Amino acid sequence: MSAYERHAGAPGQVKEVTSLANPLVKDIKALALKKFRDQQNAFMAEGLKLVIDALDLGWSIRTLVFAKAGRGNTAVEKIAARTVAAGGTVLEVSEKVLVAITRRDNPQMVVGVFSQKFLPLKDIRARDGDVWVALDRVRDPGNLGTVIRTVDAVGARGVILVGETTDPFSVETVRATMGSIFAVPVAKASPEAFLAWRTSFPGLVAGTHLKGAVDYRSVDFSKGPVLLMMGNEQQGLPDELAASCDKLLRIPQAGRADSLNLAVATGVMLFEIRRGALKLGPEDARS
Ligand SMILES: C[S@@+](CC[C@H](N)C(=O)[O-])C[C@H]1O[C@@H](n2cnc3c(N)ncnc32)[C@H](O)[C@@H]1O
Repeated sequence: MSAYERHAGAPGQVKEVTSLANPLVKDIKALALKKFRDQQNAFMAEGLKLVIDALDLGWSIRTLVFAKAGRGNTAVEKIAARTVAAGGTVLEVSEKVLVAITRRDNPQMVVGVFSQKFLPLKDIRARDGDVWVALDRVRDPGNLGTVIRTVDAVGARGVILVGETTDPFSVETVRATMGSIFAVPVAKASPEAFLAWRTSFPGLVAGTHLKGAVDYRSVDFSKGPVLLMMGNEQQGLPDELAASCDKLLRIPQAGRADSLNLAVATGVMLFEIRRGALKLGPEDARS
């Protein structure tokens, strides 16, 4: 019995796959499409560190896929064992299969398939110091992933997706989060459900708007929780969402650009809102 088999349990629990026609491989490849992600209620994340972080944070892994080259790698063997212990399947695959699954020429050695998880809106109970970000109809997966990553970086609490949005569990969004998809709770709501929930939000609801009259640097964000509302990339916040904000803030600009990119504007706002909470320290030396 190899070291790998000792970690992973019974040898039969590790399937070696070299054929693209294998049904398990077909199911994983299908996760590139939203229709199949929704059908399977699953999504894919690439990279050993991401998969370890996801397991540490309690995400439920369905399938672990690793390249043959990962055999003998202690870290890979450990997550294979954790996958088996969690009732998941472990696939050892050829380079060709991994390239097909990830659609990348130089794929990561490890891919995990996880169950999707949304936080129910009704479970969000904001307390003092909490910052939540509501994104109105965000379209671009890169923007959504970058916002989720930034929310994580500043220690905000989570993201609420309002209306029809890009999928937080698409491969592109998950890649752009750089692993923060596993650390940041994501809720989704129709505009009506969001507006109903917003009425009981116990702190400042700050919208950002190109017509906002208030300089974002003039606001005291230190009291109570904050809900930051960001508008759609093309249209900005619609009237009914803008009207539900306590303040509409603007980031002053110079030059000819009409507006900032959504993720950049969210980053500027989040670092201002969290300014008092962020200090350089030993834990800040994380790379
Ligand atoms: C690309 S902008 C939207 C531009 C859109 N054409 C509009 O009229 O609002 C996306 C979002 O980023 C935020 N944003 C971008 N630049 C901003 C600025 N200078 N001040 C305040 N918010 C800004 C707003 O929430 C905006 O809805």
